[in-house]
Amino acid sequence: MNLSVIGTGYVGLVSAACFAELGHTVIGVDIDEDKVKKLKNGECIIYEPGLEEVLERNLKSGRLSFTTDLKEALPTSTVVFSAVATPPNEDFSADLKAVFIVAQTVAKYADHDLVFVNKSTVPVGTGKKCQKLISDTLKERGVTHHIPVVSNPEFLREGSAVMDTLQPDRIVVGINGDDWSKEIIDELYQPLTRVGKPMVHMDRESAEIVKYASNAFLATKISFINMLSELCEHTGANVRNVAKGMGLDDRIGPRFLHAGIGYGGSCFPKDVKALIALSKETGIPLPIVQSTYEVNQHQRDRFFKKVLDILPEKATVGLWGLSFKPKTDDMREAPASDLIIALEKAGHTVKAFDPIAMDNAKALHPNIQYVSSPMEAAKDANTVVLLTEWDVFRGVNMEELSNTMKGKHLFDGRNIYDAQEAKNAGLKYIGIGVSTSTKS
Ligand SMILES: NC(=O)c1ccc[n+]([C@@H]2O[C@H](COP(=O)([O-])OP(=O)(O)OC[C@H]3O[C@@H](n4cnc5c(N)ncnc54)[C@H](O)[C@@H]3O)[C@@H](O)[C@H]2O)c1
Repeated sequence: MNLSVIGTGYVGLVSAACFAELGHTVIGVDIDEDKVKKLKNGECIIYEPGLEEVLERNLKSGRLSFTTDLKEALPTSTVVFSAVATPPNEDFSADLKAVFIVAQTVAKYADHDLVFVNKSTVPVGTGKKCQKLISDTLKERGVTHHIPVVSNPEFLREGSAVMDTLQPDRIVVGINGDDWSKEIIDELYQPLTRVGKPMVHMDRESAEIVKYASNAFLATKISFINMLSELCEHTGANVRNVAKGMGLDDRIGPRFLHAGIGYGGSCFPKDVKALIALSKETGIPLPIVQSTYEVNQHQRDRFFKKVLDILPEKATVGLWGLSFKPKTDDMREAPASDLIIALEKAGHTVKAFDPIAMDNAKALHPNIQYVSSPMEAAKDANTVVLLTEWDVFRGVNMEELSNTMKGKHLFDGRNIYDAQEAKNAGLKYIGIGVSTSTKS
């Protein structure tokens, strides 16, 4: 099938490359000329394990191409995916400008019937608005092309996006009574459904809510254990033991029960905020979502306060990890950004190391030092703070760390170290959800 994917960011690029991998002919469209130029040259513009090979293979095969001109892509496309960003506005609502521009542009230049699919995460009702915009634009043009709007939210995770796309645990499709678009979407995903990947059909509004509900639920699970981590610190309990004891219950499960400095990234924070905005807009209370947001803020703030409180004036801080999570170069809503800003404001020197995200971090924080290894970041530091649990930080030798640092505080924002081992090496270990008195 011929299709185009508008927006070649973390979702659009992976989707375009993977649809081509599944045998479709795909044109990726982006307004960013630099991105498109690099992609045409086979340069992978984001760090995503496995993506480079898929890109290269499909560019070579001719099944994948890129353009900045949507008009070029439309004539051959049976399906047009919109995968543009929907970042949070100041008032927490999702910024849908790009989504509407894309829907309108498609309607303006379409010369045949096609299926318009929203892959971006959009608040419930956005599909209906897109449908109206498309119908109005077609009417203005005096043409009668059939362009139904379908919701097909994306569930890929950065860091395993290629695998998630080629082996999804579910494909959610929201269609409001249009058999033709259902047939097309079924055919498009046949390479996956044929091998047993479940496709769930539903109405468009439910599909839009599924995405927000899934992200808010996972964010809530994280905030729940983070909330308990403070109680553990206060009472002498250990949140790791609590999570283990809870997670062995089949009904609860161990995933997303790992206490840390809170969720970040481009999805959980913005989707939780968008639900809060939707609650205000509709008047429907969503108090659990509001609490999830507040707990996350509180968790980050109280950890950073602990770091700032122990630092002498003009201290040197070694930061381990910058991206919002391992296996991605994405710095959106990364805890590291907030901490860097706070440390710079307080007049401290920051030496940071991240195996992949340093280029993106440099664009946001040009005035800190970037070094080439964990120990270089720790050298002569008053404090080392682990923010992203990249594998390279897991095997750090505590004796070596202790001898390299000037001070002794090791802040473990991801709870990956053994407190006793750190203590034995002479370090003052501050993890999350463990009372400090048992550790120092
Ligand atoms: N990043 C994730 O892990 C993830 C996972 C699931 C869902 N989503 C959702 O997918 C959507 C896209 O997220 P992302 O992380 O890929 O965003 P992104 O910012 O990485 O990519 C968006 C791309 O769209 C392009 N763009 C903007 N306006 C355009 C236009 N008018 N025409 C063509 N291109 C245009 C931008 O240049 C950019 O390359 C969001 O709604 C997000 O919530 C993201």
